[in-house]
Amino acid sequence: MLLEILLSLSAAVLALPSTHLDAHQLERRVNNGLGKTPALGWNSWNIGGCAYASEKAALDTGKLFVSLGLKDLGYQYVNIDDCWSTKNRDSSGNLVPDPSKFPRGMKAVTDDLHNMGLKFGLYGCAGTQTCAGYPASQGKETQDAKKLADWGVDYWKHDNCYTPCNNGNPQTCGSPKGNSSTYYKTFSNALLGSGRPILFSLCNWGRDNVWAWGAGFGNSWRMSTDIQNNWGSVASIAAQAAPIAQYAGPGGFNDLDMMQIGNNGLSENEERAHMGIWAIAKSPIILGTDLAKIRSSSLNIIKNKAILAINQDPLGKAATYFTPAGKSKPQNGKLYPYWTGPLTDGVVIGVVAADGAATLSFNFGDVPGLDATKTYNWTEAWTGTTGSGKAVSTNLGSHDMRVYRLKTA
Ligand code: GLA
Repeated sequence: MLLEILLSLSAAVLALPSTHLDAHQLERRVNNGLGKTPALGWNSWNIGGCAYASEKAALDTGKLFVSLGLKDLGYQYVNIDDCWSTKNRDSSGNLVPDPSKFPRGMKAVTDDLHNMGLKFGLYGCAGTQTCAGYPASQGKETQDAKKLADWGVDYWKHDNCYTPCNNGNPQTCGSPKGNSSTYYKTFSNALLGSGRPILFSLCNWGRDNVWAWGAGFGNSWRMSTDIQNNWGSVASIAAQAAPIAQYAGPGGFNDLDMMQIGNNGLSENEERAHMGIWAIAKSPIILGTDLAKIRSSSLNIIKNKAILAINQDPLGKAATYFTPAGKSKPQNGKLYPYWTGPLTDGVVIGVVAADGAATLSFNFGDVPGLDATKTYNWTEAWTGTTGSGKAVSTNLGSHDMRVYRLKTA
């Protein structure tokens, strides 16, 4: 009898893990009501660093969100990164928008963007200075968060430069003191107490296993060092994201960093793969190019409705690798071609020609959760092609990607 009870108890415990984990993860998610799906927007940094930290860049981008149809597709955050403030706080200790970059102050800019139906984001840092050497929030968290709320800011990216360090205080401390979760918790609480819902974007470059605790404090967390404008960087970040897919969920997502689409460092195929992987990994998609100059192939990529719908699927689960029968297994740190993840009404399967032009094939039965004996109907997001069968085989140019959506319900 006792043995029977023990056996049934352990069976119950064994049956629990996935639901139990979900409930636990949801429980410790930051309670600001925001970021139920990954943020869609734009940020000034990848284009030209400090140069685009201005009212003009923010409002021009807002207008382009409307005129290019990006707003209608869900892009809403217009974010200014580092370099927006003066080098010193005012006599009351407040951050001050640089009058040469924000001649009307911040409130006028947020008002204008809100009137366009958009939202406004700003950048700051957990240490004593931002990465570019502007005043940051260490010791001033409550005051700064209140100021953001006064200005009507909707999104805050919190960087990790000039935080306490064991060997001095260099820009990006090689030997950080303590665990960065303490700073992010402090700022998270400051935002929650600011009187305004402000999306909190953590940027500690994947330190201290941020994916394991980021959701308790913020709506997204950078999981890698900064993206560069080349394929090697895109592929490397993607490879680091696959093994941490399980930490993504409504309200908190792995942030694979801002997009390089449109910045002339990637081929058209590579831009498609960059967008496709970020979308299925449920990363925020924060554009990082000058939209006034974007070429039409890049614009088509960022405007692909089917891809955006997958990224914004309310289930909020991120894709990770699967290994088709007979194919070699993923190697740590190296981009692997085969990805899959659940959607509200089915499954997404991504295939990337990670190692150059290739014919990539898989059986639906190789995909966890799909039935090898069944025939599935699919739609491919980039080409709009549809098909039906038990397997797919596709010829891809180097670094190109296809994204298949299957309905199982
Ligand atoms: C860090 C961040 C970048 C950017 C710069 C600004 O490197 O990771 O995304 O915000 O700082 O200085």
